[in-house]
Amino acid sequence: MPALLVTGGAGYVGSHTVMAMLEQPDFEYEIVVVDNLSNAYRAEGDKKPVALLRIEEMTGKTIQFYEVDIRDKQGLNEVFGKHDVHCVVHFAALKAVGESVEKPLEYCQANITGTCTLFEVMRDHRVYNLIYSSSCTVYGEPERLPLDEEHPTGRGISSPYGRTKYFCEEIMKDLCASDPKWKIISLRYFNPVGAHPSGRIGEDPNGIPNNLMPFIAQVAVGRLPELKVFGTDYPTIDGTGVRDYIHVVDLADGHVKALQLFHRNEFSGFCPINLGTGTGYSVYQVVAAFEAASGRRVAAARAPRRAGDLAANWAAPAAAARLLAWRAARSLRDMCADAWRWQSANPDGYRG
Ligand SMILES: NC(=O)c1ccc[n+]([C@@H]2O[C@H](COP(=O)([O-])OP(=O)(O)OC[C@H]3O[C@@H](n4cnc5c(N)ncnc54)[C@H](O)[C@@H]3O)[C@@H](O)[C@H]2O)c1
Repeated sequence: MPALLVTGGAGYVGSHTVMAMLEQPDFEYEIVVVDNLSNAYRAEGDKKPVALLRIEEMTGKTIQFYEVDIRDKQGLNEVFGKHDVHCVVHFAALKAVGESVEKPLEYCQANITGTCTLFEVMRDHRVYNLIYSSSCTVYGEPERLPLDEEHPTGRGISSPYGRTKYFCEEIMKDLCASDPKWKIISLRYFNPVGAHPSGRIGEDPNGIPNNLMPFIAQVAVGRLPELKVFGTDYPTIDGTGVRDYIHVVDLADGHVKALQLFHRNEFSGFCPINLGTGTGYSVYQVVAAFEAASGRRVAAARAPRRAGDLAANWAAPAAAARLLAWRAARSLRDMCADAWRWQSANPDGYRG
């Protein structure tokens, strides 16, 4: 059976993508997850991370799991040797923007060296199909909005994390130029939020959340006292930062559609595609939507702008509609309702 190798498949976006793939009635791949568990949880005595066990339970399907670091060439070689890998979906990375400022070398190691090691192993095993988790952060400071794929990348990126995503895209362009066998879809995510509607899988950040929605959810559930709103004087609808939030299940469906693009053989080389809704919401709009969905009050306090934060960004999603026949279907209300269902049913995440 052909295999789909998913690096970082035990994490937030990875687990929802594995779920979306396995929910396809005619899905013809075995799923092989490689994850070093640096940001995923496996209970003592279990063979697999909790997220994957729950997906197996919900779908009745089996997931192959290997605790391997993508920087471990031999470990990856063994996995590729055991399975007939046709395509790789590459999520594994460190992703905390603030931490990347303190630990740039760790971010280069994990995100760039790890990615190059994975590519070497793919090439050695003649696997050339890749779906890469990129980010709207590669656009840096927007020159115009909405952000389309023609917008320049690499200028004014404010964090080492963002630069690792940009450098990886440049490396992938060079790879595609070096050998036409490579086919790479780089999915530039906007802001993934929410959780699977079952409430059984969701975002389970280690420590204090870095992103808005899990932070709000933890305030609503009483784990954190209040939300700090960084910047209330931006030139936006209510002075707070505006972002294009996308439901993680829509994002996961985008990967299912991207995989189908390989079958249709309609592209070659490096293909960047935005995954966003095309609509931006402010911090206060998200807080209000979350309060409405949860019935809880979310205490919010004004704080100064953070260095490097943008006032606003949102996607032009036309390329995804054209190339993948994909559009985000879920509303901000759905995002908040599903995030709340997950958070309230699992107040301590997977450790509960
Ligand atoms: N969540 C977001 O806001 C967002 C936005 C844009 C892009 N992305 C990208 O999407 C991808 C997935 O993000 P996420 O939110 O699911 O993060 P996550 O931390 O939940 O998932 C990443 C997974 O990769 C694993 N991992 C990390 N380093 C590894 C290594 N060296 N070897 C093997 N496994 C490793 C972690 O244990 C984790 O399970 C990342 O590449 C991230 O940069 C995320």
